[in-house]
Amino acid sequence: MQIAGFEVIRLTETTSTNDEALQLSRDKSGQSLVIKAQRQIKGRGRRGRVWQSLDGNLFFSVLLEFPLKDLGTLVMAAALGLLQTIKQYKPTADVRLKWPNDVLLNGAKVSGMLLEKGDGEYMIVGIGVNIMQSPQNDEMLYPATSLKAAGINTTADDFLQKYLPILAENIRRKATDLQQEWMKNAKGTGERILVRQNDKEICGTFCGIDENADLLLQTANGIQKILAGDVFYEGEK
Ligand code: BTN
Repeated sequence: MQIAGFEVIRLTETTSTNDEALQLSRDKSGQSLVIKAQRQIKGRGRRGRVWQSLDGNLFFSVLLEFPLKDLGTLVMAAALGLLQTIKQYKPTADVRLKWPNDVLLNGAKVSGMLLEKGDGEYMIVGIGVNIMQSPQNDEMLYPATSLKAAGINTTADDFLQKYLPILAENIRRKATDLQQEWMKNAKGTGERILVRQNDKEICGTFCGIDENADLLLQTANGIQKILAGDVFYEGEK
């Protein structure tokens, strides 16, 4: 089935849709694919974390050829697209973007994204959206919510159907345009944040992102460009 130029492959169960996408990238079909699974038994999150794949939620990976040097465009296009899709359901929804590519709804995480490199020029954008349920346990890095909890009643399939045309359009936009819109919708611009990396924590004021989607942090040593890490807002951790 085709949606907005993406060939959509639907699976009942897989380990991780990103694993499927990686495998398919080796076949070099040249096509842009979306792999959606009803169940993931080994869903992966960022930085080696587990992505709990609860029933009724959306798990999919977009596999497309995209130059590595323009990765920021892809990240911003994909994250903004999630926010825009939620707003299609409920224009007044309190949706915010949290660097690098989380989507917050009423201040809690409703969607996350795992970017991986496929074979050759292929990039894999793995996206999880809490449609019906949100994981709740003490080990979670950030509080989570679902569309349902915010009064948005939809299904994983309907969300994907709405999202893909928006993503296709966003991918054609200029990086600077996406950057501006990302910043308008970001949580905490101008506020103190803490960025946790593998071996260190950096505190500063969140200035926004550049056109590569790297985080700009004002510290005592000037503006630092941050390429990876987890962000916490003041009073959160
Ligand atoms: C994160 O916020 O840590 C990223 C979560 C990404 C989850 C999605 S679900 C579909 C795709 N398959 C995976 O195993 N992970 C991504």
